[in-house]
This record gives sequence, structure tokens and C-alpha cells, in this order.
Amino acid sequence: MLPFLPLLLLLPLAPAALPPPPQNQTYATWMASSILARGQGLGLNPRGRPAVSYEHGTFQTALLRLHNATGEARWLDAVRRGLDTIVRDEGRDIAGYDRGRAALDDIRVGEGLLVMYERTRNASYLRAAALLHDQLATQPRTPEGGFWHKRRYAQQQWLDGVYMAQPFYARWAVGGYEARGGQGGGAERVWSDVGTQFRVIWAHCADRKTGLLRHGYDYSRKVVWADPVSGASPEVWGRAVGWYVMALVDLLAATAPIPAEHPTYALLLGQLRLLLPRVADAADKESGGWALVVSQPINRPGNYMESSGSLMFVYALLRAVRLDLVEDPGGRLVGVGRRGFESVVKRYLVKNRDGTVSLEGTVRVGSLDEDGDFEYYTKINRVRDDLKGTAPFVLAALEYEMLRDR
Ligand SMILES: *[C@@H]1O[C@H](CO)[C@@H](O)[C@H](O)[C@H]1NC(C)=O
Ligand SMILES: *[C@@H]1O[C@H](CO)[C@@H](O)[C@H](O)[C@H]1NC(C)=O
Ligand SMILES: *[C@@H]1O[C@H](CO)[C@@H](O)[C@H](O)[C@H]1NC(C)=O
Repeated sequence: MLPFLPLLLLLPLAPAALPPPPQNQTYATWMASSILARGQGLGLNPRGRPAVSYEHGTFQTALLRLHNATGEARWLDAVRRGLDTIVRDEGRDIAGYDRGRAALDDIRVGEGLLVMYERTRNASYLRAAALLHDQLATQPRTPEGGFWHKRRYAQQQWLDGVYMAQPFYARWAVGGYEARGGQGGGAERVWSDVGTQFRVIWAHCADRKTGLLRHGYDYSRKVVWADPVSGASPEVWGRAVGWYVMALVDLLAATAPIPAEHPTYALLLGQLRLLLPRVADAADKESGGWALVVSQPINRPGNYMESSGSLMFVYALLRAVRLDLVEDPGGRLVGVGRRGFESVVKRYLVKNRDGTVSLEGTVRVGSLDEDGDFEYYTKINRVRDDLKGTAPFVLAALEYEMLRDR
């Protein structure tokens, strides 16, 4: 009996407890400092070369939030380091940036550039942001006005693209950085254009079964996965909807630039209010998280609870309720968001020997480059410490921890 005793004593504790953050840290600061300790998110690609990256852009947004929440300079310094690594020739060039690609992904770092410009008045950041804005001004579009996801993906819009480009686009317009394009009411026009992106995507991608959105659509209906009528891809991919709801919440937040009187505000708010209850419905009853392919049963072989999409949903649910963007009778949305965060922590958070923390369970990629079917999404491997999971972790943790403090 005796040798088994210690094991027995440990058993009831181990599965139930969340790995708690170290004493003087929160989940948000623990993850952010771990990312930085790994040298991630600072403007270098995996081969150690400076390159523009939407993953770094997403992390920089999280760092700016963390700076706002804690007042600590180290988070802002990390944003500056990341941007200084890629901004070249006083902002006339960005490392790895190729405007000819017309990739919406490249726009994501623009938010950080504008915030840094506002804080430092260093013209290099503004010049670099202007390069990105110039891309949007000539971005190829569908006949309905939707931005192509990339030149290579002609006539296609993917949900991911709205998070990459729209917060920057709206922020630029309200900042009045240039009277470019000449006409007065430039911001009005941009807000309408932002509304067009969300309206057109919704019209093509709405998924009846889940009340959510399919990953993307092809206006020309030529690509292999396109529905012959709507043009939509066949499945609801969790992370794609995650990017989309994060974009909605950020554009509607009090710090975001679209004024409540503009019709785009009501359009975005309407979409958010339709989506979030369906996001809550889509949470797995058992684990509390969300499936990689939300439109398929989580227990279908190949499907699993995916960490990045789950964290994006947690963030959107908790932030939308906190900012009174949606009503939450009985606290259902907050309950689902809270449980979702705890579920990711329990299942995927790993405490490392050096005191840093890691996140598992993030799918490496999900693209509409191939068949866009269930088999495609589920054959992609999962990686540890992918910024597409860890950056949303910081954002979600900030919301979760504000909830706890109330
Ligand atoms: C927490 O405390 C440890 C040990 O005192 C220190 O090394 C670490 O920098 C602190 N972390 C934060 C976030 O203050
Ligand atoms: C931080 O706070 C400032 C001032 O309230 C605001 O302008 C800015 O947008 C905030 N940044 C983020 C990333 O939320
Ligand atoms: C302004 O930003 C550029 C590009 O990041 C950087 O190289 C330069 O040192 C900055 N200038 C000042 C005065 O901080």
C-alpha cells in the first residue's frame, strides 16, 4: 500500500486545478513575457530575418492592450523593437513587404505603426503606415467592392482578411493622416467601405446550420471549393470566425474609430449580436472549448478542440459583454467565455521548467489554397507556441482577468 500513497494523494488535485500564474504575474503577463523570452513576435521570421508578419502584428496589438492595462513600459518597448526591426529607410520600405502581392495579411502591423507614431511622432512609422494605406487604396476588388484576400487569390474574400486590414483602415481614416484622395468626407467614405466588406462577406458566407460564417467565398465561383450559388467554401473553420468576431469587437469598441452615428456602426453591431449567441451555442458542451471545424461534430475523427479559435471566441464574448455591445441575460455569454478560457488553460497550458509558459493545440495554418474541406483542415498539424494561439491568449486572458477583478 505505502508506495502508492503519494500518487493517490496527488490524483484528486491534478486534473481539476488550473496551472496558476506565478505570484506576481497574471496569465496575460505570464504568456506575453514567455513569448518575448522565446524571442518571438519581434519582427524576425523563423530563419531570423526581418520580415513583416500578421502574427507579429496581432501580438503587437495584444502588447499595446497590455501596456494600457498595466502601464508598464516593457510592453510598449517590445512593440517598438518589433517595428524597428522591419521599418527601413525611414519608413520608405518595410522588410519582406511586397506591395505587388496585395496581401491583406501585411496590413496587420499597421495598427501598431499608427499607435507608435501617435506616441512618438517619429515620422518613420507614419511613412511605413502610408505604404500599407496606399496598398488598400489600390487593393484589387470584386465587382461588389470586396477586397481580394491577395492578388494570387483573385476574386476571393476570406474572413481572416477583415481582422488583418479593417481596424487599420478605419483608424487611418479617423486620424486624418493625409488628405489623400482629395475629396472631403474621406472618413465617411472609408467607414462605408469598411461596412461593404462585412456586408458582402456575410451575404456570401452565412452558414444556415450554425448561424456562423463559412471560411470564405470566391466571387467568380471558379475555384474547386466554391459553392456554385453562393461561392462559399464548405466549412466553418473556427479560427476564421475568430478573426472576424475580433475585428467586429475591436471596430465597435469605444477606442475604435467608427462613430456610432455612421450606418456601418449599426451594421457591424447587428452582425456581432447575431454571431455571439451562435458562437456560444457552438461551444462543445463537454470540454467548453470550440472545435477546429465548427460545422462538424467535435468527436468526428480528425476534429478536436483547437486553442487559437477558442481563445478568439473567449476574447470576443468577454470583451463584447464588458463593453455593453451585446446584452447578456443571465450571464450566459460570459459563462461560456469564462469556461472556454479555463478549458484552454486546463487542456493546453504547459508550465515549463524555466518558469515560462507554453500553449499547445494551435493548428498551424488553415487556408483556402486547397480543397477547403474537412479533410484538408484536419490533416494540418498542431503546433506549440504559435503566435496565432499565444497572442489571442494574451487578449483573452486580459478580458478573463478583468472579469475576475470585478
Ligand atoms: C516576479 O518575481 C520574480 C522573482 O522575484 C522576478 O524575477 C520577476 O521578474 C517578477 N516578474 C514580474 C512580472 O514582475
Ligand atoms: C490605449 O489607450 C489609449 C487611450 O485611452 C487609446 O487611444 C488606445 O487606443 C488604447 N490602445 C489599445 C491598443 O487599446
Ligand atoms: C524612428 O523610427 C525609425 C524606424 O523604426 C528608427 O530607426 C529611428 O531610430 C527612430 N528615430 C528616433 C529619433 O527614435
